Amino acid sequence: QTVRISDDAVARACGADAVANAFALAGWTVERVSSWGMHWLEPLVEVNGVGWGPVTTDRVAEIVDGGADDLCIGPIAAHPFIAGQQRMTFARAGRTRPLSLDDYAETGGWQGLNRAREIGAEQVLAEVVQSGLRGRGGAGFPAGIKWQTVAKAEEPRKYIVCNADEGDSGTFADRMVMEGDPFALIEGMAIAGHAVGAGQGYVYLRSEYPDAIAKINAAIALAADRIAPFRIEVRVGAGAYVCGEETSLLNSLEGKRGEVRAKPPLPALSGLFGCPTVVNNVLTLAAVPHIMTEGGAVAYETLGMGRSKGTMPIQIAGNVKHGGLYETAFGVTLRELVYDIGGGTASGRPVKAVQVGGPLGAYIHPDQFDIAFDYETYAAADALIGHGGIVVFDDSADMAALARFAMKFCAAESCGKCTPCRIGSVRGMEIIERILAGGRKADAVEVLPQMHNVRAPDRSLSEQVALLEDLCETMKFGSLCALGGFTPYPVLSALRHWPEDFGLPAKMPV
Ligand code: NAI
Ligand code: SF4
Repeated sequence: QTVRISDDAVARACGADAVANAFALAGWTVERVSSWGMHWLEPLVEVNGVGWGPVTTDRVAEIVDGGADDLCIGPIAAHPFIAGQQRMTFARAGRTRPLSLDDYAETGGWQGLNRAREIGAEQVLAEVVQSGLRGRGGAGFPAGIKWQTVAKAEEPRKYIVCNADEGDSGTFADRMVMEGDPFALIEGMAIAGHAVGAGQGYVYLRSEYPDAIAKINAAIALAADRIAPFRIEVRVGAGAYVCGEETSLLNSLEGKRGEVRAKPPLPALSGLFGCPTVVNNVLTLAAVPHIMTEGGAVAYETLGMGRSKGTMPIQIAGNVKHGGLYETAFGVTLRELVYDIGGGTASGRPVKAVQVGGPLGAYIHPDQFDIAFDYETYAAADALIGHGGIVVFDDSADMAALARFAMKFCAAESCGKCTPCRIGSVRGMEIIERILAGGRKADAVEVLPQMHNVRAPDRSLSEQVALLEDLCETMKFGSLCALGGFTPYPVLSALRHWPEDFGLPAKMPV
């Protein structure tokens, strides 16, 4: 008998290795595959397409004997969490062995690269533009336009840089691609290299992802002949959040301090070592093989809404019953994601807020849960979809503490290059402290050593709020990069929707 168990970091953290060992000791053949992305069921084991989860070692004997019905979820592919998805980037999730070249080729692998080589660079660029694929790192810039800019640049040396720094809270899709389907990323990078005329690619990866580092390195070695003459190397960063910002990442890749560069020049024209460089997120590059296989018109253009084409791998995390990876066409609502798909909070308490788009994303109030998951709709609601991570909070969350945390996070992670972020974030913490000190939450005040006079408010509460609003405007429009520029989103959304948590009257104007 053969049992399939994921070797993804989440599954392993939940005990998958021990469960795999127990099956092996029982005489079964164990195949380690990628994760289906149903994290609440890990370790999930699969026998002839049927799943059991979460499995502990003491239940293995029962499964071997044909029992453990209480853990059985039936055919995994038919489970509503999987059947409801439109998986393109994650089409192989749960189905293949991550480092098996045979599994990859049997599931359509390399067809995109082969076709790209047949149709030529010009046509590849045209199809990626036509597909409407937008950068999945957060900003949503059209990938094809970026590639065209690099292709047109008349420099002999060009680079493809994959941004795998995945620093957003509640996100794990990049990691799942690198651990579960690394050849898809490699193929996407090779197609990008072919399209723009780059011979070398780098994957910039955070040191907190040891499993992904090992897998992608092993996969690059296995695929080297297939992608030649294109070459890929992995570079491991030290975990600074700002190194996910593309110019800071490039500095770090060059061995310099991870400090943001002013734009222009755009990396597309002057990027790594001053050469034209495509910097794309893992999900953007991993989406490309599918688009190339199907053709730009078929794959993405017909899915999604407005200018948000195709599918988005949404990462459901936080206080939620069914957390995991849910890939679906743009347009899905938070109400569907949190309640129908996520099953509500894990704690069973009412949902208070959902932060979408990482630590710099807005806190979305349940009243806004019907807005569609789409770049423009979120921007119009003063929010961002970012890298597609959603983090659910129940009614025990203190939104003032979370707003203060946003400023604190910005202060800690600031690269220090520009004043609105470096100084503004510290001043922002102080103002929030003063608001709390002046409101009914004086007990909650956390006095930091660098702060002055936080317990002696010299302004009225509404003046403090106006000051915070002013500061946020300066940070939003005056910061050099998204770290300082987006910190106002969580702060102002918390203040706007939950003023009572700040000790303010419920309808305080913001
Ligand atoms: P941006 O809007 O400045 O640029 C987006 C991309 O388009 C960049 O690669 C830029 O170089 C390129 N670009 C812009 N105009 C171009 C042109 N005319 N030709 C060719 N390329 C062009 O946004 P930025 O600052 O790069 O990213 C901000 C986003 O990063 C935010 O939306 C945020 O959600 C996201 N983010 C993601 C994180 C993650 O973990 N994935 C972490 C932190 C932020
Ligand atoms: Fe550096 Fe912050 Fe300015 Fe970005 S906004 S350049 S992280 S100081």
